[in-house]
Amino acid sequence: MRRPIIAGNWKMNNTASEGYDLVTALKPLVKDAKCDVVVCVPAIDIPSVKKALHGSKIRLGAQNVHFAEKGAYTGEISANMLKEYGVKYVIIGHSERRQYFGETDETVNKRTLAALAAGITPIVCIGETLEERESGKTEDVLGRQIEKDFVGIDDFSKIVIAYEPIWAIGTGRTATAEQANETIGFIRKRMKKVYAGKNVGRMRIQYGGSMNAKNAKELMAMPEIDGGLIGGASLKAPDFAAIVNFDK
Ligand code: 13P
Repeated sequence: MRRPIIAGNWKMNNTASEGYDLVTALKPLVKDAKCDVVVCVPAIDIPSVKKALHGSKIRLGAQNVHFAEKGAYTGEISANMLKEYGVKYVIIGHSERRQYFGETDETVNKRTLAALAAGITPIVCIGETLEERESGKTEDVLGRQIEKDFVGIDDFSKIVIAYEPIWAIGTGRTATAEQANETIGFIRKRMKKVYAGKNVGRMRIQYGGSMNAKNAKELMAMPEIDGGLIGGASLKAPDFAAIVNFDK
């Protein structure tokens, strides 16, 4: 059985003190969660959120990591810097980073390997645009990302994939539970073929894109969907808690 994992992606929201307050409010609301709970926070919020998380099972996550160990990469953050603060998860290859910050399949792959080397679990985002879906290219696009983003990984139980159809992010337009289930099923099947013998069966795949308290239960009931990566609805403690407690 794969244990469900619900992660919040705060994106560029919450100052350090706002993050502290949000997590302080969240802690009691999710203390009986049956799934893994993660908050992926802006890098500068990590110290204060870590303090607020003390004594909680909620795990600390980041939103990006550089692939080099150290060096002349102005503005970047290394896996060891995250590790020293107890960061357990890191989002890699979010479509916003691919779209606005020049992230490519190659850099996604390098960042993923760097996170794994530091013992941090990568949450690697893949997904298609609206145009790609409407022109029937979803499986081609995902197939390309599957072939390129995960080269060199030996044990897929140590990574999480977030399937985020770009047309569903921040738009209020969720993939239907059936659409999400079908596409995640395709991803798992293709991964098993491309990376045979590498523990793909134990890898968790989340859905992300306008997931909220109202649709979480239906999405989480689907057999292929192992969790959610939540943007907007992770910014208010009761909203996020309602998703985490989807089984209650
Ligand atoms: P929304 O939940 O705001 O649509 O964002 C999804 C997302 O991009 C999570 O990484």
